[in-house]
Amino acid sequence: MAQSSLPDTQHDPLLAPVLDDLPARQQPDWPDAAHLASVRAELASAPPLVTYDGVRGLRDLLGRAAEGDFCVLQAGDCAEDPAECTIGDISRKVDMLGVLGDIVRAGAGRPVIRVGRMAGQFAKPRSEKREAHGGTWLPVYRGEMVNRPEPTPEARRPDPSRMLTGYRAARDALTALDTLGRGERAASQERIWTSHEALLLDYEVSMVRRHRAGGGYLASTHWPWIGERTRQPGGAHVRLLAELDNPVACKVGPTTTVEQVLALCAALDPGRAPGRLTLIARFGADRIAALAPLVRAVRRAGHPVLWLSDPMHGNTVRTPDGLKTRRLDAIMSEIRRFVQIVTDGGGRCAGLHLESSPHDIAECDGAGFTPVRGPEYRTLCDPRLNLLQAVAASAHWYVPALRAVA
Ligand code: PEP
Ligand code: CO
Repeated sequence: MAQSSLPDTQHDPLLAPVLDDLPARQQPDWPDAAHLASVRAELASAPPLVTYDGVRGLRDLLGRAAEGDFCVLQAGDCAEDPAECTIGDISRKVDMLGVLGDIVRAGAGRPVIRVGRMAGQFAKPRSEKREAHGGTWLPVYRGEMVNRPEPTPEARRPDPSRMLTGYRAARDALTALDTLGRGERAASQERIWTSHEALLLDYEVSMVRRHRAGGGYLASTHWPWIGERTRQPGGAHVRLLAELDNPVACKVGPTTTVEQVLALCAALDPGRAPGRLTLIARFGADRIAALAPLVRAVRRAGHPVLWLSDPMHGNTVRTPDGLKTRRLDAIMSEIRRFVQIVTDGGGRCAGLHLESSPHDIAECDGAGFTPVRGPEYRTLCDPRLNLLQAVAASAHWYVPALRAVA
């Protein structure tokens, strides 16, 4: 709730030089430094996209999730398209989050906090810097805020003005949420919160604002996360999240060591504050056993983290003709094993993180759908579950330990 009419609009000028000096993976090679500087300045003076009260509101709710009062459903596109931020698009995404959230609620016997990978999920980490197309090497596609997916040198050239397009699309999506009654003025049970990977530092650092209580918050989203490829404890991404008062999340995968996860917890949750830190496990169905020592170590170190299952990113495979896909049975199996492992390890089994779309797509394999190249395979990055597949996956979110005490 608004406690003050003071706007939280002042850009934080101190953080940028610090972050610019730290090692940062996965950043584009912008071709024009002067253009980049002018875009950064424009973003730094632009209105915040989310308010500090909104950010605090989600952090408080996640704090209650750490006490067991709520579960979390976080879902949306792998790479969002700024052209799909109209009220019609957002309305379909809201409907999807509603249906999936209801299923998670039924499986956990708890009300659900619904969060979109939405209103800012425009930058992607990639395994390779370049890829071959018809005999030439091109920079990879890094998301709509950096370049375009078509395999031509012009399309793949990073363009800083795309960050402004991303900002405006995020603003449109947030306005649409307000218009649908699911934004700033919605009751907390009705509200759809926003999240994205805080990857593109030129954008995110420009969107840090001072709030009236004196600290800094990221005004581009309620809930930023960092990914598996940028979670180095000495790197710029971890430092950025450490400086913010938002609730924050970090992906962890099968190569994560106990030392690494403890270093992340120390950096991102030094105060051991319920709701501050969420760890999103993305191991893959056949490697999920490696999660168990991490859950135990984090619990022993006293961090009240929320554990979410991302059963997507560890289960990516190729079809015989080279399309990226994911099998629904592997996704379901990872979810079930996650629930077991986190519960046995004494962690807070808090919810699901999915890549899914309300559109008529066939990108993942299962529930009667087989991915083939064509109009039903149109993701900008990773394969997403369609609604039927996402419903089936969410139905595997059944937490007997939570139901027993509900
Ligand atoms: C993603 O969430 O789209 C992603 C790239 O995830 P990860 O960092 O876990 O690979
Ligand atoms: Co993805």
